[in-house]
Amino acid sequence: MQEKKTAIITGGNAGIGYETSLAMAKQGFRVIIIGRTKQKCEQAVYDINQSTQNDNCSYYLCDLSSQNEIKKTSDLIRNEIKVVDILINNAGQVYTHYQESEDGIEMQFATNHLAYFLLTYELLPLLKKSTEARIICVSSNSHYRGQLNFNNLYFKDSYSFFKAYAQSKLCNVLFTYKLAALLKPFSITVNVLHPGLVKTLIGTKQVKWWEALAWKIWSSRGISVAEGAKTSIYLATSNDVKNSTGLYWNKCASQKSVAISYDIQLQNQLWELSEKLCNIRYA
Ligand SMILES: NC(=O)c1ccc[n+]([C@@H]2O[C@H](COP(=O)([O-])OP(=O)(O)OC[C@H]3O[C@@H](n4cnc5c(N)ncnc54)[C@H](OP(=O)(O)O)[C@@H]3O)[C@@H](O)[C@H]2O)c1
Repeated sequence: MQEKKTAIITGGNAGIGYETSLAMAKQGFRVIIIGRTKQKCEQAVYDINQSTQNDNCSYYLCDLSSQNEIKKTSDLIRNEIKVVDILINNAGQVYTHYQESEDGIEMQFATNHLAYFLLTYELLPLLKKSTEARIICVSSNSHYRGQLNFNNLYFKDSYSFFKAYAQSKLCNVLFTYKLAALLKPFSITVNVLHPGLVKTLIGTKQVKWWEALAWKIWSSRGISVAEGAKTSIYLATSNDVKNSTGLYWNKCASQKSVAISYDIQLQNQLWELSEKLCNIRYA
């Protein structure tokens, strides 16, 4: 019998990540969620197992803003799992006020970018064992307004949450393009996407009540969470894209990302800085 394919989805306990996990479990994947909240992960796994009528789904607990937790969780995964076929870097968060991770890094940069960078590095040995692996990074169209200023990366003195968020989402695109080029010799594709404006709770966590209200009003114009997961699911499962790599996607179609995201020098500069901040060397 053919082995089930294994998909790891960060932030698979809620929002777009949950819908993606559910759809992939329905398609017969072995689904592994990485999440930070035990009770939410347990609930998500229970709900997915119930509605797919099999025990395909499990979770690892990890706060992805912590490099130490990413490394420990990856150790566990490498000990327990032989091959990873799909990695969906999806977990993201919005902080409207300046906050640092335990590694002293601005929170949105730490979770939205460095966690993608470090987790992918840690799981690469398992992805290389797959006959056809796919890495998918969930970015945002806010990346079009993102800028990278290496002299003021954390916006510490006059914090702009939107600038920090847009920067982290631009980093997703720069990271994807550089990684796709690096992994060309292997059977691993790497793509990045915008899910749409989606009615999730992302803008209601770690924020003041009026900011949460503003997000609810703003996102009420958005699409459903199931709709918002469609491009992630498409990139993870469709045969049409099995050879596509290094592309930015929106509504299941590739499109141009912002011009600076194609700047190789900028990609390299971000890459080197990320390696330094995570204390790793990719190759
Ligand atoms: N919603 C939109 O309109 C929109 C638009 C463009 C891009 N996106 C992107 O889509 C992705 C998913 O967002 P969403 O809208 O589905 O948000 P969501 O409903 O808040 O889901 C985010 C998921 O990430 C997890 N997460 C956040 N910080 C984490 C951490 N430090 N460690 C581990 N897990 C963490 C959350 O865990 P908890 O449940 O414990 O909080 C949750 O499972 C994000 O990358 C976001 O930037 C969303």
